[in-house]
Amino acid sequence: MNSAVLSFFIFGFLISSGFATGHEEGSCQSQWVNNDHSGCGVTSKKGDDVYEALWVRNMDIAKETFNADFLVHMQNGSLDAFRFVKFTLQDILYLQVVTNMLKEVSEMPGQPDDLREFITGRYRSYKAFLQSWERDFSLADTKSIQPTPAIEKYLTSYKNVMNTEKDTIYFTVALLPCSRLWVWLAQNLKMQKNNAYIQWKIDNIGGHPEKYRPILNKYLNTTEKAQKANDIFRMQMQNEHDFFSTS
Ligand SMILES: *[C@@H]1O[C@H](CO)[C@@H](O)[C@H](O)[C@H]1NC(C)=O
Ligand SMILES: *[C@@H]1O[C@H](CO)[C@@H](O)[C@H](O)[C@H]1NC(C)=O
Repeated sequence: MNSAVLSFFIFGFLISSGFATGHEEGSCQSQWVNNDHSGCGVTSKKGDDVYEALWVRNMDIAKETFNADFLVHMQNGSLDAFRFVKFTLQDILYLQVVTNMLKEVSEMPGQPDDLREFITGRYRSYKAFLQSWERDFSLADTKSIQPTPAIEKYLTSYKNVMNTEKDTIYFTVALLPCSRLWVWLAQNLKMQKNNAYIQWKIDNIGGHPEKYRPILNKYLNTTEKAQKANDIFRMQMQNEHDFFSTS
């Protein structure tokens, strides 16, 4: 791989975004896309780590999301319970639709074995979580949940990536903002133990987004691919932001 070009590109990333030093680490992934709890703890090697550069480059959106009214109220326990229910229903719908897409993407022809295995692993994890939520909420299915405009836009973005990118590494990139952002939000929310929403923090703090690192760094090995990945990552970070800011 052309690592000189890649390093130059990534280094440019870090410099231009002003986060060359002291960036936050989201070391874990949302629990609901991940059932294992091993290997937490990220040490990023700056300069050759596309996985890390994508996050660092788009921290501005993470920080804006953290300030969403929904999360501000969740943090101090004053969030209207009805708002939380609406948010949760949309999250279940999201989970259902993305699970179906993951199945489809995992079956796309012409993928390297390790990438297909990774996507299949994500599919199984999403599916298991969807099933546990359907049980918990006594839902036969999620077909009657109508998407809000923000969730509709988010799911359309996924669908566009799935339908236009033959290389499934880009769908994998599209999944990462959710995994990484939710852990980071959970880590940063300061909640009292008796906060009604403490379980949201507990459920989301223990994931492992760094499981994406090896596969992303392996296949996003040119400037062009890293740039395209950044465009997709940023679009999905914006979609996450818009979900929170309209909830
Ligand atoms: C990028 O990685 C793929 C998969 O490992 C490899 O086949 C390809 O030759 C690499 N390309 C470059 C430019 O290094
Ligand atoms: C929680 O935060 C909101 C928004 O800043 C504020 O209006 C409200 O008074 C706070 N409530 C408590 C209980 O601290």
